[in-house]
Amino acid sequence: MASPVTEAEVVRVRVAGKVNLALRSGRRRPDGYHSLATVFQAVSLFDEVDAAWARPGQFTVRVVGEQAAQVPTGDTNLAVRAARLLATTWGVNLPLGADLVIRKSIPVGGGMAGGSADAAGALLACAVLWDLDVSPDELRALGAQLGADVPFCLAGGTALGTNRGDELTPVLSRGSYHWVLAFSEGELSTPAVFGKFDELGLGTDTLGVPDGMLNALVSGDVLALGRTLTNDLEPAALALRPHLASVLEAGAELGAVASVVSGSGPTVAFLAANEPAAVDLSVRLSSEGMCRAVKRVSGPVPGARLVV
Ligand code: C5P
Repeated sequence: MASPVTEAEVVRVRVAGKVNLALRSGRRRPDGYHSLATVFQAVSLFDEVDAAWARPGQFTVRVVGEQAAQVPTGDTNLAVRAARLLATTWGVNLPLGADLVIRKSIPVGGGMAGGSADAAGALLACAVLWDLDVSPDELRALGAQLGADVPFCLAGGTALGTNRGDELTPVLSRGSYHWVLAFSEGELSTPAVFGKFDELGLGTDTLGVPDGMLNALVSGDVLALGRTLTNDLEPAALALRPHLASVLEAGAELGAVASVVSGSGPTVAFLAANEPAAVDLSVRLSSEGMCRAVKRVSGPVPGARLVV
């Protein structure tokens, strides 16, 4: 292990946000969670997490970039919690500490797993920085303790998530899909959206991936995929943010193949037929002026990776 005194090394990890192509949810369980059947796709919108040595027991974070001011920097920060959990689980009796820097592009509280991505990035960056002997599977298991989306943020690609969304099975996916993301002002809290979901009496007993979605992905058929995009949380997100209905409508009118609220929202993801159609849609949607920002991404992309 490198010495904290002599080593000036910084380890940088790049980690993608996600959209849920499908999110089917059961009712609230006794543990407060909801059983899910969800299909994640990692998309090309990345946060970066740097980790550098700090004094033993010292864990700090600085956040820069878009919406940085909205991210807590104390011990509640999910990346700090990730570094501490890794140190206490896999670095017992080692003099570990880390100064983290997070460069944000994934929206904060946007339904794209931004906080989970930063936790995943911190886990990988610190494991490399501290030279710990921890496997990808073990890192994913640790990630699941931090949040249901963290294992997927480590893995990336396209995957089916079951249980809380944290038990992953890879999904075969051919080609690349082009998305236009509409970011809204302000955040939506995931617990609040699930709370509204409960209040509305939503939740299905039969959890499954929408018919045709896996076939569409394996054959790379964007129109067929569009027909199967589903989010059970969408009515709850719309109830909390009625404005999102007009964003969804605008995307449809401007030529999106299909649209879906991403996770618990408020980000809306529009699927485009191809790259030129995505460029066209993003320009038109921007000029409508109804969103905080509009961004074009593609997926699937890998999960947390070292930047060389
Ligand atoms: O796992 P994570 O901390 O990211 O989840 C945040 C909150 O979202 C949970 O406390 C819970 O209220 C809700 N949630 C849920 N069912 C899931 C995932 C999240 O109810 N499968």
